[in-house]
Amino acid sequence: MRRRKVKFNWESAKKYLQEELNESAFNAWFANLDIEDIVDENVYFTVPNTFTENWISEHFMENLRSAIKKETGKNYTIHFLVKEKSGREKLEPMKHTVRIQDKRKTYLHDRYTFDNFVLGDNNKFAFAAATAVSNAPGREYNPLFIYGGVGLGKTHLLQATGNKVFVLYPNLCILYTQTEEFLNEMIKSIQEHTTVEFKKRYREIDLLLMDDIHFLARKERLQEEFFHTFNSLFEAKKQIVITSDRPPKDIPDLEERLISRFHWGLMVDLQPPDFETRLAILRAKTQEDDIHIDDGILKFIASNIESNIRELEGCLIKLLAHSSIYKTDIDINTAKKVLSDIIIKKDQRPTLESILKEVSEFYRISVDSIKGSGRSKSLANARQILIYLARELTDLSLKEIGDKLGGRDHSTVLYSHNKISQLIKKNVRLKEDIQRIKGGIRGVK
Ligand SMILES: Nc1ncnc2c1ncn2[C@@H]1O[C@H](COP(=O)(O)OP(=O)(O)OP(=O)(O)O)[C@@H](O)[C@H]1O
Ligand SMILES: [Mg+2]
Repeated sequence: MRRRKVKFNWESAKKYLQEELNESAFNAWFANLDIEDIVDENVYFTVPNTFTENWISEHFMENLRSAIKKETGKNYTIHFLVKEKSGREKLEPMKHTVRIQDKRKTYLHDRYTFDNFVLGDNNKFAFAAATAVSNAPGREYNPLFIYGGVGLGKTHLLQATGNKVFVLYPNLCILYTQTEEFLNEMIKSIQEHTTVEFKKRYREIDLLLMDDIHFLARKERLQEEFFHTFNSLFEAKKQIVITSDRPPKDIPDLEERLISRFHWGLMVDLQPPDFETRLAILRAKTQEDDIHIDDGILKFIASNIESNIRELEGCLIKLLAHSSIYKTDIDINTAKKVLSDIIIKKDQRPTLESILKEVSEFYRISVDSIKGSGRSKSLANARQILIYLARELTDLSLKEIGDKLGGRDHSTVLYSHNKISQLIKKNVRLKEDIQRIKGGIRGVK
């Protein structure tokens, strides 16, 4: 049979996909997808592995078909040719590695597994990528870069990856570490003149699980050291999995060469879970710990805590503590009372004015001064805390908050919110002050 080749413009078909899909899905699956051949009305895409083939087939087939149809006006049949990259053999342990690694030296915790990770639309992509990496570490997706907001399961997925690899490949050398810990070790090694050992330790790992890489922000020397560690592991075809609270390009002052390294692999994000997923997580946690909490209470929690899975868990822990101290079962009214400092019902959300009043009383600064343009340190501080609380406790947009505070622009609002969010993590005093102000806003000082 004579093969008649009809070309179409794949790059412009891709644009339809780009419009339709969110950025991370498009970048992960289609930005680098190439066509091997087009024969009659068959199009053959090359994909690096069956994981990619399956994922596109299961999740994006309709999008792909319709993008091609929009471009060509025809219904093409889609085929995938799996091309394993040459030179990327299965990950072999470093020569020195002992047969079975001591689990304690991996810094992995048994509580984080893929089995107890509840799936939803918000996280199934990241989950699938982490599972694929743990099934065949070092082959594809290197590095795997997982990013997402606070308490959305980054550490859980990272640790679960390590735990699975530990079971499947017990002879590989695995290390879980936080970027801050990497920094501390680096500093210690400089002080103690043991930098050679430090470098060696990190370069002899088969699977490096690096948590919270956003900590590299503005730390030149640390970035430099990590860059070399990364390169040496990468060149030795070792697997690296990284988490961050934001994508690489948004990490302040991150060197271009590191950003580009991170893009070599696969970038996946974790989004906040929807109501159904939040409820499923709560149900799973109660089952896991064999505790009974009424489903109505779980629904109440799931509908009020929207964007942080750690807070969902925090609610359960609080209820359990209450019930064990008072030796009572919990009904919905008790639950509402016990959780009142964590949960603010939407219809009871405070107004900006009530927050302003409370901040003004707490810091003994007049409302007008806070809203005004004075720049003293104490004024600026109170204003930033006000903005932080307005973002946290109301539904107002950045612009609305800015407008109500004497016409500040939205980037000022965003900056203030970020600044206080960061400071709270380090400054216990500030955290307590903010808790007190929140209590005041709710009338429970
Ligand atoms: N999909 C999920 N199913 C079950 N539990 C989850 C899920 N996602 C997160 N959790 C749980 O929520 C808690 C917070 O998750 P984790 O610590 O992994 O978040 P994180 O993204 O690393 O947060 P941070 O930015 O603060 O480091 C953990 O106890 C984790 O087990
Ligand atoms: Mg974490």
